[in-house]
This record gives sequence, C-alpha cells and structure tokens, in this order.
Amino acid sequence: MNILVTGGAGYIGSHTCIALLEAGHQVVIADDFSNSDEKALEAIGTITGKDFKFYQVNVARFHRLEKAFTEQKIDGVIHFAGFKAVGESVENPLDYYANNLKSTITLLKLCRKYKVQQFVFSSSATVYGDGEVPFVETQNLKPATNPYGETKVMNEKILKDYAKANPEFAVILLRYFNPVGAHPSGLIGEHPRGIPNNLMPYITQVAKGLRDQLYVFGDDYDTVDGTGVRDYIHVMDLAEGHVQAMEHLQKGWDVVNLGTGKGTSVLELVRAFEKVNEIEVPYSIAPRREGDIALCYADTQKAQRVLGWRAKRNVEDMCRDAWQFEKNNRHEGQ
Ligand code: UFG
Repeated sequence: MNILVTGGAGYIGSHTCIALLEAGHQVVIADDFSNSDEKALEAIGTITGKDFKFYQVNVARFHRLEKAFTEQKIDGVIHFAGFKAVGESVENPLDYYANNLKSTITLLKLCRKYKVQQFVFSSSATVYGDGEVPFVETQNLKPATNPYGETKVMNEKILKDYAKANPEFAVILLRYFNPVGAHPSGLIGEHPRGIPNNLMPYITQVAKGLRDQLYVFGDDYDTVDGTGVRDYIHVMDLAEGHVQAMEHLQKGWDVVNLGTGKGTSVLELVRAFEKVNEIEVPYSIAPRREGDIALCYADTQKAQRVLGWRAKRNVEDMCRDAWQFEKNNRHEGQ
C-alpha cells in the first residue's frame, strides 16, 4: 500500500515510517516540522535504505495538502500530526482545538474527494481519564482534564461519525499508552524541545548530566511504591502495531489499545534504567503534578484478537534504546 503518514517526521511517526517501509509498503510523509526536523527524514532513509516521498505542509491547510493527493496515489492514511503537550494545551486551548481538529477534518475532506477509505488514527489512553484499570476499549470515557485530551476524544467522535456516514470507509482508532525508547540504531528517538514534560526523556537528560536530578511527582499514590504507574510501550512495538492496524482495517470503525498490559512505577523505571545502562539517575520526591492519575495500564486482549499484535520488547529494551539515542543526540547549547 501507498500510505500517507501525517506527522511522519515526529517521534512516533518516524518509527512507524520505518516499520511500514520494512514491511514493504510505500510511504508519503506530510509534516510541517513544527515539532520535528529533517534529521528524522534522513535517518528513515539511512535505516531502511528505501525511498519515500515528503511534503512539507501543515495538514490543516487543504489546498497545500491536496498536492500530495493529486501527485501520489494514496491508498491509506495514518494520522499522527497534532500538538501534544498537555500543559501547553491548558495555556493555549484555541491553538490546540484549531490545529488538532482542523487537521483531521481537512484530511477527511481530502479522503472523501480522492476516495481514500483506509484510515488509522493516533489516539491516546488519556481518553479513559481516571477510570478503572486495566483500561478496556468498551469502558465509558471520562471527560479529559485538559484540551489536548479533549481533542483526542473529539477526533475519535469525528472519525466515528464520518465512518457511519460513509459505509465504504474503514478506520481504527489506536489508543496509545506511554510510548518510550527509540529505534535500536540510536539514529531517531524522542527529542523534546525545552524541558521535557515526560518521564523517560527527563531521565535520559539527567543521566547525561543535562539536568541535576529527576523530580518524582508524588510518592503517596495508592500504588506499589507510592509513585505513579504507567504502561510504558517501546516505540518500535507501537510502530509495528500501526502496520498491523493498516493491514487489518475493515469497513466501519474500531478502537484498539496499544500497550503492554504491564504497569511500571516511576521508581521501578528509574531503577531499571540505572541497572541496564549502569548509570546513576539522582532524584528527589516532589509534590504531585496536577492532573496526574495513580494508575494507567491497558487491557491488551483486543489488540491480540483483532490485530494479531502484542508488544515484544520489555522495559529493559526501552531503557537501553532510549539511552542509546540520548547519547547520540546533541541538544542546543551542547
Ligand atoms: N513523572 C515524574 N517526573 C517527571 C515526569 C513525569 O515523576 O519529570 C511521572 C508522572 O507523574 C507519571 C509518570 O511519570 O506518574 C509518567 O508521566 P509522563 O508525563 O511521562 O506521562 P503521562 O502518563 O503523564 O502522559 C502520557 C502522555 C500524554 C497522555 C497521557 C495520558 O505523555 O500525552 O499519557 O494517556 F495524555
């Protein structure tokens, strides 16, 4: 298949492009580099030794994006492009609603015009809010605690409504848990701008000496050691889940969790990182972060049943590959 990957230069997008190319698909990337850069594209070529097409475009711009649809024969779309920083979304809700909703609507209008009927959407476990774990696809969604999460809920709704109105259309909504790690080559990985919001990039920057210590947000949750528990998933497992989803699309809509089903606490992750990489990560306990929940992990049965997919890599693989990328990666001012 010839697959349009929006946000294909980004963290999850670039790893997915590699998995698609390695599975024998062709790839057309649309990305405006608002949170990524050309280096990821170079690395995709180096790692796979394969060619792909690239359009530097904001996916919310209909006429600019249309060029990709007129010049390429697109069979399916994987839609990653979007703003994703929770805190920023609270400060700039309009930017988040405008960009994240308009890009999906624009893409769907182009899919309708060019009769593209295969679609995979990048959703998030954030739609479950603080519901009961393990999170199952059928459980009621809780209202999101921030505009970023709300755009995931709304985009899911837009895609379901579009699928209901267009019986030939096939869409899978993939709800990711906590993607971490990097391609084992160390050539691509997560490269946040500024102070990382997420745990793993913060750990790798502390290990590298770029930050003094990690602040563990709360040790009084009702969890194994009091720190927050998450379902960390290796980004290459996640990438392969997208290939499986693309290949298992059926008319109508469906929703599938992509996680490992296993919860790991903040301190367990820190210890695993220290052990596998033989490097110390100093930390101190800080107050809870607003909006955080105690426990978040997936029920993974549906992914196995519907996609024939399950995560293969463990927490040690995630820590090793994340560190490998961090060591290769130059930050501004370094
Ligand atoms: N944490 C720390 N210190 C840090 C960063 C994080 O202790 O410096 C803790 C958090 O409190 C939490 C855990 O590490 O317990 C994981 O935090 P992340 O920020 O890495 O991930 P979240 O689970 O908060 O957020 C992720 C995605 C969001 C998504 C959310 C809900 O980054 O995009 O899951 O699915 F919305």
